[in-house]
Amino acid sequence: MPYPIFELPDDAPIQLEQLGTKTKFWYYGPRGQKMLFKEGRPGTGENWAEKVCCEICKLLALPHADYELAVWKGRSGVVTPSFVPDGGRLVLGNELLARIVGQYDQSARFHARQHTVRIVLKVVSDPRIAFPHSWQSPDAISDAAGVFAGYLLLDALVSNQDRHHENWGLIFVPGQEEVFFAPTFDHASSLGRNETDETRAERLTTKDKGRSVEAYVERARSAFFATPASVKPLKTLDAFREAAKIRPAAADYWRERLAAIDPIQYSDILDEVPDTEISEPARDFACRMLEINAKRLLDLKA
Ligand SMILES: Nc1ncnc2c1ncn2[C@@H]1O[C@H](COP(=O)(O)OP(=O)(O)O)[C@@H](O)[C@H]1O
Ligand SMILES: [Mg+2]
Repeated sequence: MPYPIFELPDDAPIQLEQLGTKTKFWYYGPRGQKMLFKEGRPGTGENWAEKVCCEICKLLALPHADYELAVWKGRSGVVTPSFVPDGGRLVLGNELLARIVGQYDQSARFHARQHTVRIVLKVVSDPRIAFPHSWQSPDAISDAAGVFAGYLLLDALVSNQDRHHENWGLIFVPGQEEVFFAPTFDHASSLGRNETDETRAERLTTKDKGRSVEAYVERARSAFFATPASVKPLKTLDAFREAAKIRPAAADYWRERLAAIDPIQYSDILDEVPDTEISEPARDFACRMLEINAKRLLDLKA
């Protein structure tokens, strides 16, 4: 059964969301729950990529924002129930880092060189930070830093290049002492969703190693720097490797979860994306990326 595409009434919006880069608004879902509609830029594959990553989060048992495909006034997007309780506030990474890192550039996004794996894991390892709400934590994971290691495994698996300091955060709820680690969200810049079908087909069949899908995934960069003196951001796999050094037991746990996935499950997920949302070469290319990245993650030596 293909994933459903939810149709929103024209008068759905109750409030615009300013954060991030895409058109989005809040509305109330059928059961009165607060939901966000996020429009994918036409022709970019952002919507299917978001949905596919959400299904992969389920396979890995990562705490994640839920996404469904949706359409509003003929504009395609995704919808996601709010993971912030009423009255609560999501404080994003840039604001958190600015509190502890001198002269942190909050507006830099991909150029924030102080956005290192080490500093982020330090921030989220504060013992006052609780696991994402209603997430069952396994024994191998002792704090939110261990959960973050899982987010970085996901990013390496799907080649998500967008884990900048506005794509992770903490949830503060007035009157509650605990602060919650936010589930993982915003995975639309992944899985080669912006390549043309021509490029995909060529890369899938070429004998030129430099043009292969292996070479393509190898180049994926994260939004983390090795040190504030680094010129380029880390590759996605190296960002996970950094986290694995700091939280080895958690990293092993996430790799075990990954090892338990049969690659057929990746193609099953891609096959369930409606044909109106994705092309056959896009499916094949994304699948191949997942297979290669899974192998790279499982082959990693300590
Ligand atoms: N499920 C959600 N629950 C609560 N807030 C959300 C949710 N999804 C997104 N947001 C809020 O909207 C902002 C932008 O969403 P995001 O998915 O990051 O879109 P963009 O691709 O435009 O960056 C986030 O920084 C967060 O503040
Ligand atoms: Mg974002």
